[in-house]
Amino acid sequence: MGNDSPIAHEVMQQFQVSYSYPVIFTCDVFDATNPTLANLLRDSNCTSSRIFPVIDTNVSERHPNWWQHLTHYMTHHQVGTLLPPLSFPGGEAAKQSTEQIEQFYQIVADQCIDRHSVVLAIGGGAMLDAVGYAAATAHRGIRMIRMPTTVLAQNDAGVGVKNGINFRGRKNFVGTFAPPMAVLNDFRFLDTLLARDQRAGIAEAAKVALIRDKVFFNKLLSQRFQLARFESEPMQYMIRRCAELHLQHIASSGDPFENGSARPLDFGHWAAHKMEELSQHQLRHGEAVAIGIALDALYSQRSGMLDQGDLQNILVLLTDLGFRLNDKILTSLNVEQALQEFREHLGGNLCITLLRGIGNAVEVNHIDINLMQECVDSLSKQDLKIGESRSIA
Ligand SMILES: NC(=O)c1ccc[n+]([C@@H]2O[C@H](COP(=O)([O-])OP(=O)(O)OC[C@H]3O[C@@H](n4cnc5c(N)ncnc54)[C@H](O)[C@@H]3O)[C@@H](O)[C@H]2O)c1
Ligand SMILES: [Zn+2]
Repeated sequence: MGNDSPIAHEVMQQFQVSYSYPVIFTCDVFDATNPTLANLLRDSNCTSSRIFPVIDTNVSERHPNWWQHLTHYMTHHQVGTLLPPLSFPGGEAAKQSTEQIEQFYQIVADQCIDRHSVVLAIGGGAMLDAVGYAAATAHRGIRMIRMPTTVLAQNDAGVGVKNGINFRGRKNFVGTFAPPMAVLNDFRFLDTLLARDQRAGIAEAAKVALIRDKVFFNKLLSQRFQLARFESEPMQYMIRRCAELHLQHIASSGDPFENGSARPLDFGHWAAHKMEELSQHQLRHGEAVAIGIALDALYSQRSGMLDQGDLQNILVLLTDLGFRLNDKILTSLNVEQALQEFREHLGGNLCITLLRGIGNAVEVNHIDINLMQECVDSLSKQDLKIGESRSIA
């Protein structure tokens, strides 16, 4: 072979795609006097698009007039062509099987829904994850407007760029990164949530405050009793600020599609994901996250990074919000296995977010299994002395 025979020939392909989508907070989105949805469809050149509504069964049950209101709204504003709605199971059941994903694909085929159509998905975080996955994969991506109807979906799950379903019990094993066309958060939907679902979403606000924003943490702490009663003003502020911090992180971390191993927004989540699986999803995601936060805060303190006073404030906040931090599921948690599965999910090195202070996160690549196990045992036995020695900011 001569010198001019290359071993490899490379052509560098390079292009950039930028994304932007609005996250809008409103009330009574299907009231004809509320122009938000109509403006959104007009601004996105969707006035003649086919609109495919998919709704969480528990939302349609508790808001039985939603379809009547939506049809009236679309006729009134003359935007888009409404297709018959699909009812989608709510809660983790939405993510547990591919049956309903196939049903979605079938309707897309039967109704000639194409990439110029819009899926209008209305529901909790689990259902939005599953419908988001179905929409992102049908025709390699149909545009989707998310309309989150739980606290956690409005302040976290519904505002980001990820979707997914579970595979043989493993959380979010299958999924894609697919930014939505827009997110419409209608606070009115929250009125019909169970108390445990109102509360569960507050855990994600505590999480993001702890890793990013001390002022927000102190506000949550000082308003914890109003939040525990789900008073609308502090709840709405909590949801907006939490969503904003999640959005800021996605836009400014330099890693919106999570190619690196660091996942600060997954603070408390390595244990949370495993506990959700172990409880067979009896534990809500947010309830598991609250326990996961307490555990990693305790570990941060016992490994010398976090002050005792800060730890106390974190435990006081979570406890007074009404979370049960000593859930019996902790006794089934295999620390080593859960960390190993989390590492596989990250797709690289183990990278766990811990705390140096409130609002001050640090990434570590090693966890002392024995120390973590001691923390699990202490938390499950609740020998943490939350109470008289409370340190309140
Ligand atoms: N994609 C992401 O970035 C991301 C981020 C965080 C969490 N998640 C996922 O989100 C899921 C949790 O979401 P969630 O906390 O919203 O819970 P959920 O979707 O399981 O909803 C909880 C329950 O409330 C019902 N519900 C929803 N809206 C209602 C309403 N307005 N009134 C009455 N009932 C209503 C649901 O049908 C369900 O039974 C988990 O699967 C988690 O993995 C995803
Ligand atoms: Zn979460």
